Amino acid sequence: MAKDATMEKLVSLCKRRGFVYQSSEIYGGLSSAWDYGPLGVELKKNIQKIWWKEMTQMHDNIVGIDAAILMHPRVWEASGHVENFSDPLVDCKECKTRFRADHLEEEALKAKKCPECGGELTEPRQFNLMFQTHMGPVADDGSVVYLRPETAQGIFVNFKNVLQSSRVKIPFGIAQVGKAFRNEITTKNFIFRTCEFEQMEMQFFVKPGEDDKWFDYWREQRWNYYVEKLGIKPEKIRWHQHGPDELAHYAKDAYDIEFEFFFGFSELEGVHNRTDFDLGRHSEYTGKEINYLEEESKERYIPYVIETSAGLTRSVLMVLSDAYEEEDLGLDSKGKPDSRTVLRFHPNLAPTTVAVFPLVKKDGLAELARSIEEELREDLTTFYDQSGAIGRRYRRQDEIGTPFCVTVDYDTKEDKTVTLRFRDSMEQVRISVDELVPTIKRAIKDYKRV
Ligand code: GAP
Repeated sequence: MAKDATMEKLVSLCKRRGFVYQSSEIYGGLSSAWDYGPLGVELKKNIQKIWWKEMTQMHDNIVGIDAAILMHPRVWEASGHVENFSDPLVDCKECKTRFRADHLEEEALKAKKCPECGGELTEPRQFNLMFQTHMGPVADDGSVVYLRPETAQGIFVNFKNVLQSSRVKIPFGIAQVGKAFRNEITTKNFIFRTCEFEQMEMQFFVKPGEDDKWFDYWREQRWNYYVEKLGIKPEKIRWHQHGPDELAHYAKDAYDIEFEFFFGFSELEGVHNRTDFDLGRHSEYTGKEINYLEEESKERYIPYVIETSAGLTRSVLMVLSDAYEEEDLGLDSKGKPDSRTVLRFHPNLAPTTVAVFPLVKKDGLAELARSIEEELREDLTTFYDQSGAIGRRYRRQDEIGTPFCVTVDYDTKEDKTVTLRFRDSMEQVRISVDELVPTIKRAIKDYKRV
């Protein structure tokens, strides 16, 4: 099947089942802004939880913060965003559509011809991506503030606060998850590139001269996170090193981890060597000494920063794209071709871990199934469903990626056993109710993507 057709099906599934909706849809929608529905919010939180654990709990030298979205406007002068954070744009003089010059085909750019209507294109102009607003009652130049275009600056401006309050020692890191905003012009591809999005960033402060070593270390760590923690197929991700013309104004070296989305390989996360650029600039702009004193050697220096910067909302799209599968199941019992749509999430990511069904509603089975589901809630994320044929209920759970289903039937009343069904293999086993939690937990721990 064509890849863009699959993308369309995924977008439709996301809306139908409550992962992602168009923002303000009842007003015709706001392009490039999206809302996360009941399942989407669970999926996003699960990704964030795994990232947070991996980047803070698993390291005794990484701490977290949660900085404000609105920051002093001088932050963005110091960081270079006011001057440099721009895209080259061209406008069509006929249809007025605006394009990123670096996203246009070479031919269209040379001929200055609009790819939509053939009209004449303007010369490229630099367009700053930061969203501006005003703070306070008067909307004048003095009240301009920006919605942060990256979470990183909240970490840099708090470097001294964290150093003094947490007594961390170099090398150490500060992690943060939060919203960022960019006035993006090219915002197609669903939630891939949006004006409002979430980032998961970690700034790791190191001694100058040790930066290359830590850069390699974090590249390896971040690759392993995708494969081992999120269960992404390794053949679907690759490295892309930034060439000199791609490097951000602050970077000495940068590698992107790219994922093969339905529209091709594209950036998922950046690992950057930001040198002492940011802390140096904030020292310069504030006149304060933002540096580090090494206790033993009494050496004072501005640390270098290795940054790992991943998109959370973009990770949601990656996880959905990687999980989406249409599986041919051969012929059904009536001899008709059978298939199913399944989201093969790693069980730690799935919005619901286990769905519980009574085989039928009558004879006390619904009440029994309900009580089993309520017992499981303590340890697992559950869902109860009693409507429709059992096969249809399994398929509904496959489509939203629920890795385990439990069916309660007449035998359950007699011997306290249930049927446990595995999403990927569709295998069913009979086990005692008491064994459900340990069996499911073991299956999650040993999970291998088929
Ligand atoms: N602090 C460094 C930084 O912000 P970046 O490469 O511009 O670096 C990091 O962004 C990550 O943030 C990207 O790899 C991507 O996952 C995510 N991201 C950036 N712009 C985005 C957008 N407009 N929509 C969704 N995610 C975006």
